[in-house]
Amino acid sequence: MKPVKVGLLGLGTVGTGVVRIVEGNQEDLSSQVGSPIIIERISVKNTEKPRDIEVDPSKITTDPWDVIRDPEIDVIVEVMGGIAGTKEYILEALERGKHIVTANKDLMALHGSEILAKAQEKQCDVFYEASVAGGIPIIRTLIEGFSSDKIMKIMGIVNGTTNYILTKMSQEGASYDDALKEAKELGYAESDPTSDVEGLDAARKMAILSTLGFRTNVELSDVSVKGISGVSKEDIAFAKRLGYEMKLLGIAERQNEEFSISVEPTMIRNSHPIASVNGVFNAVYVFGEAVGETMFYGAGAGAMPTATSVVADLVAVVKNLKLGVNGLKQIVPYKQKKLKSDEDILFKNFLLLHVDDKAGVLAKITQVFAEYDVSLDSVVQQANPNNTNAEIIIVTHDASKASMNKVLKHFEELSVIRRVKSHYRVEG
Ligand code: HSE
Repeated sequence: MKPVKVGLLGLGTVGTGVVRIVEGNQEDLSSQVGSPIIIERISVKNTEKPRDIEVDPSKITTDPWDVIRDPEIDVIVEVMGGIAGTKEYILEALERGKHIVTANKDLMALHGSEILAKAQEKQCDVFYEASVAGGIPIIRTLIEGFSSDKIMKIMGIVNGTTNYILTKMSQEGASYDDALKEAKELGYAESDPTSDVEGLDAARKMAILSTLGFRTNVELSDVSVKGISGVSKEDIAFAKRLGYEMKLLGIAERQNEEFSISVEPTMIRNSHPIASVNGVFNAVYVFGEAVGETMFYGAGAGAMPTATSVVADLVAVVKNLKLGVNGLKQIVPYKQKKLKSDEDILFKNFLLLHVDDKAGVLAKITQVFAEYDVSLDSVVQQANPNNTNAEIIIVTHDASKASMNKVLKHFEELSVIRRVKSHYRVEG
């Protein structure tokens, strides 16, 4: 059988894993697809960089265009990252009829619809399983496994760096700064960790997952985002005391064919299965109207977990090649996008207030909640040993985001409240 020839863009951590799996599992892979899979050309940034695999130097180039323009190559595997330049390579490869496997969530979250439209026009496959939650086959699951169901909710821990930091704070009482420092030392957090800790990485992944889950075109700007840099170890201690864990949760919900998608530090009831996902691990909880609760757990990053998703996509492309069915639209985002207004987005809230410790304060505060129709689940007051404030901890029942914003605005004018120390969404 004629071998299928692959061009690899990037030979970093994931690219190295791809070469390892394709070469190491060749017998099994070719028996699945009916022909050998050969990595024909590889583009790298720096040929001098030491690598822990041996690659035939004649396959290496520093110019990605050499790979894109090689007429022998059937499939491009893009694991170099980047957005603008990489998009150009991919669009040109599609123009030339090459299929694409990519691990690039930034590219797919920002330009996925343009790339998929080009693929459609050229009858090519574009698969991107590794772009969300590394080794967890969640994209294929949403497209194929749930094709018969109506997905009502997706909740994800889809960023390992922030989950590592929050776990360290929760389990060892570490401060945010110390936990971040350690995440950097261990190579989980980048030297500029902004995209991870401010929730952007997770938001991009949630845009991809909710587009697939809800069959509507969710863009990054549709996701409301708050990161974890403001979370203190005191907040986490309060969460634990009330029976919650603090997690950076992506939450995508459908109700009456309207959608809301957010990423924010959330107190999740500790009996919920996603609350026990710790360290750098990822998990995606999916609630389907018919199936009910499901959850998918595994490594969200790392060379071999991510590479296994990339190579699984490669196998899917080659199987399609053999069947002559490449370019079938897998998910048609046919549904008109209707985002919920803040009046219709409902959730429980945790509030930590620093207040004057004198008569009538609690009455003034509860009056504000009543004014905006926010009902309270629990209220606890305690003295703060470090200053003259008292601390009031409030958990609301489900309240609309709009009402809560009004409450918080009103609190700014209430002289008995010295400070709204913390405010978090509560789930479960
Ligand atoms: N930076 C990501 C994380 C991995 O910490 O999960 C790549 O998506």
